[in-house]
Amino acid sequence: MLKITVIGAGNVGATVAECVARKDMVNEVVLIDIKEGLSEGKALDIAESAPIHLFDTTVRGVTNDYSETANSNICVITSGVPRRPGMSRDDLLGINAKIVRSVTESFVAHSPDAIIIVISNPLDVMSYVAHEASGFPSSRVFGMAGVLDTARYRAFISADLGASVKDIEALLMGGHGDTMVPLPRYTSVGGIPLTELLSEKRIDAIVERTKSGGGEIVQLMGTSAWYAPGAAAAEMVEAIVKDSGRVLPCAVRPSGEYGLSDLFIGLPVRLGRSGIEEIIAVDLNESEKALLNVSADHIRSNFEALRRVLSQSDS
Ligand code: NAI
Ligand code: 2OP
Repeated sequence: MLKITVIGAGNVGATVAECVARKDMVNEVVLIDIKEGLSEGKALDIAESAPIHLFDTTVRGVTNDYSETANSNICVITSGVPRRPGMSRDDLLGINAKIVRSVTESFVAHSPDAIIIVISNPLDVMSYVAHEASGFPSSRVFGMAGVLDTARYRAFISADLGASVKDIEALLMGGHGDTMVPLPRYTSVGGIPLTELLSEKRIDAIVERTKSGGGEIVQLMGTSAWYAPGAAAAEMVEAIVKDSGRVLPCAVRPSGEYGLSDLFIGLPVRLGRSGIEEIIAVDLNESEKALLNVSADHIRSNFEALRRVLSQSDS
């Protein structure tokens, strides 16, 4: 029996539930939200698409009853609030940290052996909050961002070259935000290094568009993305469920790899049944290292903001 819980039945949560169900690889998906009726309605809608998409995964919605999530193998956390006018980044940090902490505690009480994938923003800090709240080893708590950011990067390369997305392999590291570090030196198209196919200027333009990929969608729609984020999380769930050893960038807690520790940051990992099976260390040149360190500093400043906000609200 394979059971997946998705916390938060908003745009991203419902899409994760649908993408996981459509892969027809687990027995049950439980969608849970605090808003009465929302998860039940979305789960029913997804379940009613099963005879068309031909999946046998059961999709159930529940309102805030964590006993219904008991014995889940994997949990995807999407609950949180988006930034609203008049709200500072610190306000958002404080509100979402409390939500992520409380849903993590409620979930782990019923599923002590699960793997947790965090999606709520700010992603790197929320992964840290969930890890601390869970008491789990860091191999079982990590964040989804790199799979999404790499997908955006690959989609833009595909559009620029007119080459199939199927042939584009890429690596991207760092935090989920403006300081992320796409790595053209580790990007290839059908085995050919990207740097041999595109000029530096065109690669730079793709890298810049990737970094602001989330913002580009917010500007168009007034809210953030959900199709690609949902698909990205489902790809991670699949790698774990199938114990496939996929090599994907995830927000993880390094223990000295890349000279980093005591934070969550996007790095390439091997994903399998036990979660993060290995953080893969690749050689970075001086400028790549410098960019990764800038990203780590930015994440650390978000941690400082979190500590400040939580100590104010606890006092
Ligand atoms: P949304 O507003 O559509 O959904 C959030 C859901 O969380 C709502 O249904 C709300 O009722 C629920 N919720 C709030 N507090 C809760 C609690 N205590 N327990 C259970 N449910 C609770 O937002 P959307 O678009 O689904 O985004 C969700 C989060 O994912 C946001 O923080 C967003 O910034 C983040 N995100 C992260 C991405 C990434 O790459 N890591 C990509 C896209 C979004
Ligand atoms: C995204 O990158 C907002 O994190 C969200 O689409």
